[in-house]
Amino acid sequence: MSLSPAFLDELRARVPVSGVIGRRVKLTRAGREMKGCCPFHNEKTPSFYVNDEKGFYHCFGCGAHGDVIRFMTDNMGLPFMEAVKQLAAEAGLEVPAPTPEARARAEVADSLAELTSRAAAWFQAQLAGDGGAGARAYLERRGVRPATVKAFALGYSPDSRTALRGHLKDATADKLLEAGLIGKTDSDETYDRFRGRLMFPIRDARGRVVGFGGRALGDVQPKYLNSADGPLFDKGRLLYNLDQAGPAARKANRLIVVEGYMDVIGLAQAGIIEAVAPLGTAMTETQLLLAWRLVDVPVLCFDGDAAGQRAATRAAMRALPLLKPGKSLSIATLPPGQDPDDLCR
Ligand code: UTP
Ligand code: MN
Repeated sequence: MSLSPAFLDELRARVPVSGVIGRRVKLTRAGREMKGCCPFHNEKTPSFYVNDEKGFYHCFGCGAHGDVIRFMTDNMGLPFMEAVKQLAAEAGLEVPAPTPEARARAEVADSLAELTSRAAAWFQAQLAGDGGAGARAYLERRGVRPATVKAFALGYSPDSRTALRGHLKDATADKLLEAGLIGKTDSDETYDRFRGRLMFPIRDARGRVVGFGGRALGDVQPKYLNSADGPLFDKGRLLYNLDQAGPAARKANRLIVVEGYMDVIGLAQAGIIEAVAPLGTAMTETQLLLAWRLVDVPVLCFDGDAAGQRAATRAAMRALPLLKPGKSLSIATLPPGQDPDDLCR
């Protein structure tokens, strides 16, 4: 839902940023500002400044910076709308009602997200069940540990054209099509989109499952298949693992962008959880902006092959017109023939 800039400005003006931060951080006066120990990184001497006149906080140690809403989303972990609601209640303001179109869009997305999250739970159960033995063996061969399987909620789609459809039988075919979970033949016959694949649920920044990547277990083409784009799933606006990597990236002041799901997972197993991946397409403008919201200089670490180099060059070219002071990209190159997952192992 989009709120008018005027409303957000009014909100910021009414609630002093030191009031909200002061509940979590001990602040002392320092001239026109307040200072304290930064809640975004570990420190013993204060380098975190809060300025009520300007309405923002800034840490000279780790670079954390933002307004009162940003503090509530980044430090307190609230979804944006929840932060706005709490601030509005504190300021005695009413949050403007969404337009009917925006409300309708949100309702459609919510009803589709209900289906994708039920599908995710079902794929997980299939991986754990009798039919999932082959997929479990595949994961073991690739060195993916059970704790990782759980943390990324990996699943398995049975090799059937109707099993998922049957499980979600209360939903109409149209809804399942919109949710990107089924396909339709020319003769209007529906079929499960993901069959015999290892399933990677893809969550949005709020942590809702909005789609899937599915990897073939054998030599089937395509190797990876994504949910079809629709009202819920828009692959150019999502980054795999963004919801889990976000808080970690802010804390570490480092974000690593890799090419594939398995690279994110390999890095996580090596203890690096601040990694994200685009979903099989070149980095889009939106994905670059998402990465820059977390850190000033994301690290692109693509595969050590010609395609990886081309992808990094393309991302750099796309970034050029978007650069702002302090924002950049850095590029880590890997040994020939290796991707981050290989390297981690
Ligand atoms: P890679 O082929 O580099 O994936 O594609 P990977 O992670 O090394 O795969 P493994 O190790 O063989 O399992 C990188 C990303 O490109 C997209 C996927 O998002 C994948 O994670 N991709 C790749 C597709 O969308 N379709 C494909 O057929 C192949
Ligand atoms: Mn790769």
